[in-house]
Amino acid sequence: MTTKRPCALITGATSGIGYELAKQCASKHIDCVLVSRNIDKMNEIKTDFESTYNITVTPFQIDLSDETAPQRVFDFTTSQGLHIDILINNAGFGDFGPFDASRLERQNNMVRLNILALMNLTHYYVQPMIQKGSGRILNVASTAAFQAGPIMSVYYATKAFVLSFSESLSVELKPKGIFVTALCPGPTKTGFVENANLQRSGLFTNLKNTTAEFVAKKGYQSMLKGKVIEIPGLANKTLICMSKFAPRKLVRTVILHIQK
Ligand SMILES: NC(=O)c1ccc[n+]([C@@H]2O[C@H](COP(=O)([O-])OP(=O)(O)OC[C@H]3O[C@@H](n4cnc5c(N)ncnc54)[C@H](OP(=O)(O)O)[C@@H]3O)[C@@H](O)[C@H]2O)c1
Repeated sequence: MTTKRPCALITGATSGIGYELAKQCASKHIDCVLVSRNIDKMNEIKTDFESTYNITVTPFQIDLSDETAPQRVFDFTTSQGLHIDILINNAGFGDFGPFDASRLERQNNMVRLNILALMNLTHYYVQPMIQKGSGRILNVASTAAFQAGPIMSVYYATKAFVLSFSESLSVELKPKGIFVTALCPGPTKTGFVENANLQRSGLFTNLKNTTAEFVAKKGYQSMLKGKVIEIPGLANKTLICMSKFAPRKLVRTVILHIQK
């Protein structure tokens, strides 16, 4: 008799932290559903993972900032007869610059992707997890979740949502056998930097950057342990710990100066 392998759905698995999280799952013999906009890249990953790890990889191409996307993702996996044991809400982007000069449509897309897609996917996939009495949800937040972030105001606010939402759900869902983890990386070398126009920000030039592989390993391990908040890296942990004890006015001023 063959036993069915567990299955993980990873959003934004074509690069950076999401790619490394998918690799963590694949290397532990977990089937993967990859969700992002770039089908060619997902097919490349499928070929690589299926031959290297002997698992099944199912790509699904979609723009998650589209309002109907989460429902379409859920309908697709249901139509394929896939039960999602691990949901990894990773896709997200930032935007560096003053809010008043920003493109409003880009801010709206960020909120739709970083918040609404994550919230809706969680709502859909948690129902079958509850029926089964088990499941893991890993939401990628950020160290940005812990304080306000002038000149990246919307991004920081979206990550504050992800952290708060994940913490609350971890309490609600634990009695139902589902563990929720918020992964809160600090600056990490990925495509995020160019996409957010952060190349010259002190966030990436002054602070120690972690690698996506390190972040993903920490996130994956914490998800398995059912740890609620994971901040990868001692420097990031220390900064967040210090910011808890400092006056909020001081923290937001320091963040402004680091980011400039
Ligand atoms: N890098 C950092 O310093 C850092 C720090 C803290 C938190 N984070 C968070 O980590 C997560 C992953 O970011 P990353 O650093 O790995 O950045 P990345 O290399 O730019 O990866 C972003 C991923 O999201 C996908 N994506 C973007 N927009 C999408 C959309 N509209 N629909 C579907 N998929 C979309 C991209 O795939 P396609 O382009 O193929 O669609 C890509 O796979 C994000 O939530 C980010 O906020 C990053």
